[in-house]
Parts: sequence; C-alpha cells; structure tokens
Amino acid sequence: MAVNIGLEEDMLEASKTVLNNLLSDHFVLLVKTWNFHWNVQGASFHSYHVFMEDLYHGLIEDIDAIAERIRALGERPIGLLAGYLAHNRLKEHADSEALPDARQMLTLLSRDNDTMIREIRRDMEQLEKQENTDDAGTANFLGGMIEKKRK
Ligand SMILES: [Fe+2]
Repeated sequence: MAVNIGLEEDMLEASKTVLNNLLSDHFVLLVKTWNFHWNVQGASFHSYHVFMEDLYHGLIEDIDAIAERIRALGERPIGLLAGYLAHNRLKEHADSEALPDARQMLTLLSRDNDTMIREIRRDMEQLEKQENTDDAGTANFLGGMIEKKRK
C-alpha cells in the first residue's frame, strides 16, 4: 500500500533498497552466527555457545526492526532466502570450509559486524545525496543501528 508521508517515489525506492540490503546482510550473519553456535567446541564451549546465542537473538531483533521500517515506508521487505543471497554484502562461511576455533569464530563475527557498520555509513552517504526529499526517519534508524552495533 502506498503511503503519503511526504517522500518522493525515488527517495522511497532508495531507502527501500538500502534497508533491504541491510536486511539481507543480517540474514546471512544470523545463519553464520547460528551455525557457529551449533558447532563451537573446546574448553569454554558453554560460554561461547551462550554468547553466540545472545548475538543471534540480537540479530533477529534487528531483522524485525529493519523489515518493519521498510513496511513503515509502505514498501515490501525481501522475503526470500534467494533474495537475501542476491543482496547480501557479507561473506558466508561455506560448509566445505573448515570450522574456525571458538576465538576465530568471534573474530569473524566481529569483522562482519564492522563490515555492516561501514556499509550502513556508505548507505547513509548515498541517501544524503538524494535530491528533493530527505528521509529523516530512515537516516535516524540507520544511525541508531550503528550506535547499537558499536556497543
Ligand atoms: Fe541453541
């Protein structure tokens, strides 16, 4: 359903694209984090296992917030795994690759988190270049995402 919130069609399209890319990154990171949670081994297995569970719960919350932000714009979030893979900007961890040890798992996940922050910054710069309208709501939302991911 189209919404009339004072944003031009091209601004809505640009915001939707940015948010769907971010949604896709989150789904890939969710699966990666969950997979590491299942497969982590070693002396401190339990603390790593629980820590990664907290991480993927946080990602699920963010996924929900991003999709609902897209809906608030009257647009449709990607709902297909194939769509997430087409728009994702993070590297998956293939089943054919060796599993990292517990510390390496956290290093990889932390790098992905940093990559997402850089991508959000780049996306915010792109949205700022948009002419005619300014989607302040999405800009605030993306700024909040950066803040949350840096804590
Ligand atoms: Fe579990």
